[in-house]
Amino acid sequence: MDYMLWNGRIVPKGEVRVDPEDRGYQFGDGVYEVIRVYHGNLFAEAEHFTRLERSLKELRIPFPYSLEKLSRQVNELVRLEKLEDGIIYLQVTRGTAPRAHAFPQEAEANVIAYASPYPRPVDTIVNGGSAILAEDIRWLRCDIKSINLLGNVLAKQAAKEAGALEAILHRGKTVTEGSSSNLFMVKEGKLFTHPLNSLILNGITRQVVVKLAHQLKIPLVEETFTIDQLFAADELFITSTTNEITPILTVDGKKIGHGVPGVISRQLQEAFERRIALLKA
Ligand code: PDD
Repeated sequence: MDYMLWNGRIVPKGEVRVDPEDRGYQFGDGVYEVIRVYHGNLFAEAEHFTRLERSLKELRIPFPYSLEKLSRQVNELVRLEKLEDGIIYLQVTRGTAPRAHAFPQEAEANVIAYASPYPRPVDTIVNGGSAILAEDIRWLRCDIKSINLLGNVLAKQAAKEAGALEAILHRGKTVTEGSSSNLFMVKEGKLFTHPLNSLILNGITRQVVVKLAHQLKIPLVEETFTIDQLFAADELFITSTTNEITPILTVDGKKIGHGVPGVISRQLQEAFERRIALLKA
């Protein structure tokens, strides 16, 4: 990675300076997006920008220039870096101001973005992974893609220490989502996932999977389910920009279904693969 987008300009990476009084740095007062690049093209770009706009609005962070310009610059970064398979990280904080909790009067949002290589985790996608359960201790606005990620960080670390790929979060008996992914289960041919509300992120991969399920005529139920239902599922998978559609074969060491990637998971993975292939020039 040689370049970064920094407050409206694309500059060599070494020129970027973050002020210690950036509110992102001191308060986690900002939002972000992670966008996939396949075959040199952005995947679901419009959906990511729509979500970014919503996160900014919910936190009342005015964006300092147009999102159209931002989109042009992000695409320019991909070209400059000659990126084929990778990710864009994009972050907007409320700005730089002397430390005080309430919004500063005259701060302008700080914007950074960079494009870096990120190979597809093909082995995990094909073979699946394991998960642990963790209590969802996050705040009640998980629909905002905020850079405040401590609840997610602690859960993911617990998964890592248990040798698992992901931590599946639950509030009491109700399962919400993964520490950095959305969660789907299959039961008797139907797909279940947590409804969109303030307790989960409206994942872009989730949006794509919902559309694919519709096209493939797989019945979808957007309702909450419990830990007991999760253990009785036929199939389980997580979705995210980086992990795409990844089957989860065990949770807390217990097998889900037959403990192998299921038929519906495979069907959705194949359809997802066809979506990615559309980005080939
Ligand atoms: N995380 N839920 C949470 C809590 C997430 O952090 C993410 C993504 C998702 C899936 O969203 P999407 O399909 O738009 O990637 C759901 C990103 C990849 C990250 O923080 O790195």
